[in-house]
Amino acid sequence: MPARDHLDDVLIYQIYPKSFRDGDGDGVGDLRGIIEGLPYIADLGVKWIWLSPIFASPMADNGYDVSDYTAINPLFGSMADFEDMVAAGKKHGIRFILDIALNHTSSAHPWFQAAVQDAHSPYRDWYHFRPAGAPANNWQSIFGGPAWSIAGDNGLQYLHLFDTSQPDLNWENPAVRAAIYQAMRFWLDKGIGGFRLDVVTVISKPPGLPDAPNPRPEALYPMLCRGPRLQEFLREMHREVFAHYDGLAIGEAPGVDPALAAKLVDPADPMLDLLYHFDLVAPARDAHGDWDRIAFKQVFSSWDSGIGSRGVNTIVLSNHDLGRVVSRFGDALGFLRESAKALQALVILSRGVPFIYQGDELGVPNTPFTRLEEIDDVWAKTTYRLKREAGASEDAAFAAAAAMTRDHARTPFAWDGSRHGGFTQAPAPWLKLHPDFASFHRAAQDNDEDSPLAFARALIALRQSDALWQRGTFTDLVPRDHDVFLFARRLDGREARVIINLRSCPAEAPEHLPIDRQDGLLLSNYRQPGSHEMLRPWEVRIWEVRVGDPAAP
Ligand code: GLC
Repeated sequence: MPARDHLDDVLIYQIYPKSFRDGDGDGVGDLRGIIEGLPYIADLGVKWIWLSPIFASPMADNGYDVSDYTAINPLFGSMADFEDMVAAGKKHGIRFILDIALNHTSSAHPWFQAAVQDAHSPYRDWYHFRPAGAPANNWQSIFGGPAWSIAGDNGLQYLHLFDTSQPDLNWENPAVRAAIYQAMRFWLDKGIGGFRLDVVTVISKPPGLPDAPNPRPEALYPMLCRGPRLQEFLREMHREVFAHYDGLAIGEAPGVDPALAAKLVDPADPMLDLLYHFDLVAPARDAHGDWDRIAFKQVFSSWDSGIGSRGVNTIVLSNHDLGRVVSRFGDALGFLRESAKALQALVILSRGVPFIYQGDELGVPNTPFTRLEEIDDVWAKTTYRLKREAGASEDAAFAAAAAMTRDHARTPFAWDGSRHGGFTQAPAPWLKLHPDFASFHRAAQDNDEDSPLAFARALIALRQSDALWQRGTFTDLVPRDHDVFLFARRLDGREARVIINLRSCPAEAPEHLPIDRQDGLLLSNYRQPGSHEMLRPWEVRIWEVRVGDPAAP
């Protein structure tokens, strides 16, 4: 495991393989498509790609339901394609982080099949089975409904924290752990750059699986990530796997707080290199139902100080499970470009490893879905079904599913203005593209120096060229300001500042601002110089404080 400072220049770009680029014309993105797209990623300045799952899977949850941990899903290509992809990445200085769903398998996995078919199979103990009867405890599945379903003919029930097709593995059983570690080594031996460990913080279940005081998913996660053996399992995984390779261990960590996170990423007690939490993506709401800027800023500070300087924090505002960042936090209707850029600056220039989700660099907004048939996401379909069962009208149930569907993040990437955005040559892509892709596709932005893409490139270049942005301390200078985020990054006597107007109306600057390069301005998302006192909607200014500057502390 690399020491902490090897993480300094890590910046991660997440690819959702199904939606990135279709290399073989079947309407679905694939590994050949990723190879074709590598020059674009390299041009962004990215060296680390996290790929959402590519292992064999029935795709009930788009690969987070694995049926073979050491096979490539034929939908995405072959093992030879995979090896070519790793080699092509190497030429660009890019490493791949694979996504492994290890809390559960697919119900189609031979382990689960053997376990269900034969009561004496050793695999019976690889999952959490209980005899027929009332649900074995009160836990609710994250996707809705009880966390217990029935397998086979005699009422045997099994635990699934997610979809019914995703039975939870029993991590108490050492054979389960050994099998997962073996699969991880298989891929690391092929030269990958590490793993993103799907919901790894819930692998250690409380002994006996007792009822939860509050079985709703939002309470269950925090309870489960305090599982008694989590840290023991992570240390073991480090010993058995990561200690032998030059690769990153990145934990997806719903429910974790900064104090626990600090332990899990402490290099002195190796478990994970990085973990990412969800406190930023679900900030508190204010009295108007809008996201609360002060609470949001507070999350940056509490995680920054909570992780401290031993481990490294992460900055994640978006991924394949969430609506588009510009639609959740920005102003996709009034100030799409400005707010997309402002959010990029926040992610890339705060302290922590930035995660950029595919398409965010183009400012892609949420997609207006109009019919249930346009939706693919199993979670959204479950939401629709449960709403209908509870008596909601078709329209109301559809509205609920369309609002929360993870498909917003999964619409195919638009490469150019041709049919289907150049994503595929097939008659139709697996999921519809955003209907306005013509206004934000990559080719258009490539030649536009004022585009979100150009701004993302400039921000990444800035971060990667200066240790101040990678390692410098983080201080929120106006934590009580309702409109503006102003933070300082300091290293070795130098200081840079980032100011962002988090609103679609002008905001008063809390202090004297530089206007142009002569004042030390490094970057801004407006071409015309602004004023010393006011910020325009979603305006960002980034500057280095010069010695003797009146704005210096
Ligand atoms: C994680 C993944 C999500 C998946 C779930 C179950 O949260 O990001 O896409 O559905 O785990 O594996």
